[in-house]
Amino acid sequence: MIQVFKPYYDHEEIEAVAEVIRSGWVGLGPKTAQFEKEFAEFCGVKQCVGLNSCTAGLDMALRLLGVNHGHEVIVPTMTFVSTGHCVVYNLATPIFADIDKDTLNIDLDDVARKISPRTKAIIPVHYGGRPVDMDRLKEVAGHIPIIEDCAHASGARYKGNPVGGLGEIGCFSFHAVKNLAMGEGGAITLNNEAMAQRAKRNRWLGIDKGTWDRTKLDRSYWWEYHVDEIGLKSHLNDILAAIGLVQLRKLEKANMRRRQIVSMYREGLKKLSQIKMPPEDGDDFISSWHLCEIKAENRNDLSIFLRDKGINTGVHYKPIHLYRCYGNRPSLPIAEKVFSQILTLPLYPDLSDDEVNFIIDTIKAFYRNR
Ligand SMILES: Cc1ncc(COP(=O)(O)O)c(C=O)c1O
Repeated sequence: MIQVFKPYYDHEEIEAVAEVIRSGWVGLGPKTAQFEKEFAEFCGVKQCVGLNSCTAGLDMALRLLGVNHGHEVIVPTMTFVSTGHCVVYNLATPIFADIDKDTLNIDLDDVARKISPRTKAIIPVHYGGRPVDMDRLKEVAGHIPIIEDCAHASGARYKGNPVGGLGEIGCFSFHAVKNLAMGEGGAITLNNEAMAQRAKRNRWLGIDKGTWDRTKLDRSYWWEYHVDEIGLKSHLNDILAAIGLVQLRKLEKANMRRRQIVSMYREGLKKLSQIKMPPEDGDDFISSWHLCEIKAENRNDLSIFLRDKGINTGVHYKPIHLYRCYGNRPSLPIAEKVFSQILTLPLYPDLSDDEVNFIIDTIKAFYRNR
């Protein structure tokens, strides 16, 4: 079977993990600190705080901004449930916005309509890796803080700048199938030093000094610490960070290969009127191409046909306001319509040209007699 996603690993990640295991320090420690430093530089921000997921990052970001009961947070509906759940974790109400039919990113006019005196944050998702038009969003948002959901977007650029430093806080996922994949993992990126220090305490139950810091400060590992605020248990660890450091070095090349594969799909499928490809990159919008989400006539039949030929596909996403936990009340027409058409084609750096051509030929074969 050709998978939809696949991590891009070789001996370098294996060696990096082995080195950490041999070192005798596998928890939150020096590799995490090194990853944080390098990833902050990569994103052009002052601080990065390593966490165990992007879900934890979104939750943390809302905590840092003081979002709480009675507040509203605007999120797109075309996203993974984490973007909505994190709002509820903080006792606030997610307000779902519709999407742009071409980019599938949050519809900025709908955001403008949904801002109220209770709106305490907006979380745009750089859907599939394509940056949201952040300058326009900032105009719409005014003083309301923006948390970027960069789960898909490691390495994406908006007007030449990496995502993750374009709002107050950026949240990244390093989950097993993301462009920078650690297995599990995440981070927040930000320029506010005080918030970053608070996040470092908060990811470790509120404890003011991690065990590595205490070992570093006093070689005999002095036991004492303070806990001023009740935090979570959501930190990154050194095994994951070591994988992340290798992946970070490969990221640009891996994203380039993703771009190449999308170009092959675009060229190979261009004569099919039943298929619509995602918008191309432009000078201001460089996607990390986490997803190649096409719109396809007879989407479900195509998906089954491909599966029967050994090709897995996916759908990203069912609009999350349609899940029962969010009331399942149809109200966002563009997302609801697009949902019936979208299909995620296989996309990962190790997908070979032959496999891409096979996928293209199989899609053509499906439509030949229709
Ligand atoms: C848009 C979006 N936000 C958040 C997340 C959550 O990421 P994690 O699995 O690292 O918690 C995901 C994961 O797929 C995602 O796609």
